Amino acid sequence: MKALFFNKPGIENLIFSDYQLPDIRDDEILVETKCTSVNPIDYYTVTGIHGVNGPAMKINPYPHIAGSEIAGTIKSKGERVNNTIREGDRVIIYNRVFDGICKYCKNNHQMLCENGGMIGISRNGGFAEYVIVPQQNIIKIPDGLDWELACGLPIAGLTAYNAIQESRLKSEEKLVVFGGSGNTGLFCTQIGKLIDAITISLSSKPWIKEYGADYVLPIDENLREKILEITNGTMADVVINSLGENTWAKGMDIVGKLGRIITFGVLTGGNLFIDGRLLYNKQITIKGTTGGSVEGLLNLIEMTKEQSIRTKIWKRYSLEDSKIAIEKIFDKNREGRIIIENY
Ligand SMILES: NC(=O)c1ccc[n+]([C@@H]2O[C@H](COP(=O)([O-])OP(=O)(O)OC[C@H]3O[C@@H](n4cnc5c(N)ncnc54)[C@H](OP(=O)(O)O)[C@@H]3O)[C@@H](O)[C@H]2O)c1
Ligand SMILES: [Zn+2]
Repeated sequence: MKALFFNKPGIENLIFSDYQLPDIRDDEILVETKCTSVNPIDYYTVTGIHGVNGPAMKINPYPHIAGSEIAGTIKSKGERVNNTIREGDRVIIYNRVFDGICKYCKNNHQMLCENGGMIGISRNGGFAEYVIVPQQNIIKIPDGLDWELACGLPIAGLTAYNAIQESRLKSEEKLVVFGGSGNTGLFCTQIGKLIDAITISLSSKPWIKEYGADYVLPIDENLREKILEITNGTMADVVINSLGENTWAKGMDIVGKLGRIITFGVLTGGNLFIDGRLLYNKQITIKGTTGGSVEGLLNLIEMTKEQSIRTKIWKRYSLEDSKIAIEKIFDKNREGRIIIENY
């Protein structure tokens, strides 16, 4: 098959060429990729800086195919695979590898599995014509869900869904999302709106209003004043901050009493300074989340089917051009998602 792969870390080491597809095992499924989204994690995997701000996962195998957020159709399956999975089924791939038996998996926290990994890192991913995955990672998608939206659900969608769930956001509460135009940011705002929260998206991109943001504000010296005004002085109930170091103090500042700050990423660095006085005087809760569970992904699919969640695509690339797609992920002018289409 054709694939984009690398033998050692570095964008410059990516090669688009033939890749020998191994035989599938009894409990595995061969998926023909239709749409693979590009996320920061793919850039970190390829450049070898994955884990700089946290535990690193070993890249396996080499030569390696990255690409962690994938939608496609079932091409073939191993002998022990369940009858409900059939050739031609449209699926998305739950991107966390998990054993299903450890204490975290048993409690529906597959993303924290003791023996876990990630498709695109600890196994080959989706920047290829085909990807082989364990059957438990296969999630069918409804007919009405198009490829472009579906392929954003396993990472960006699910991470946002889990973060909002864990924040216990309620109707009428004020939600502030840092990195509002980003992959996760756009889902956070839309999911927040479905809960009937007042959504404040921090970004320089005004079009987020079309995606459920009641307010779009730049991160500048006037931010505190503007949040004070919008919230009538009570400040934010929930702050989602995946940007980390450079914006952390602002997040602590604009969260109100009994507020919750959720982080699942540290795009600008991982040293998060916490002013203890703010923490206790406002009784703030700070919580980390990562990805989400299989059940969460199923719930998100239902939500997406029934409600008006949308995606915004900035650029579409062919598989052959997926190297350019990865290079563009941190482009300052990016206005929405970057995807690889293979259909
Ligand atoms: N733990 C997990 O499971 C998980 C899952 C997904 C993502 N993440 C992490 O979460 C973070 C966000 O992911 P994402 O996919 O949403 O990323 P993304 O699509 O790149 O979005 C980040 C957004 O942040 C803003 N931004 C970028 N650089 C900035 C800077 N230096 N200062 C201020 N704002 C900046 C930009 O929005 P504006 O132009 O609108 O300001 C950008 O669109 C990343 O670190 C990623 O690795 C973790
Ligand atoms: Zn487990």
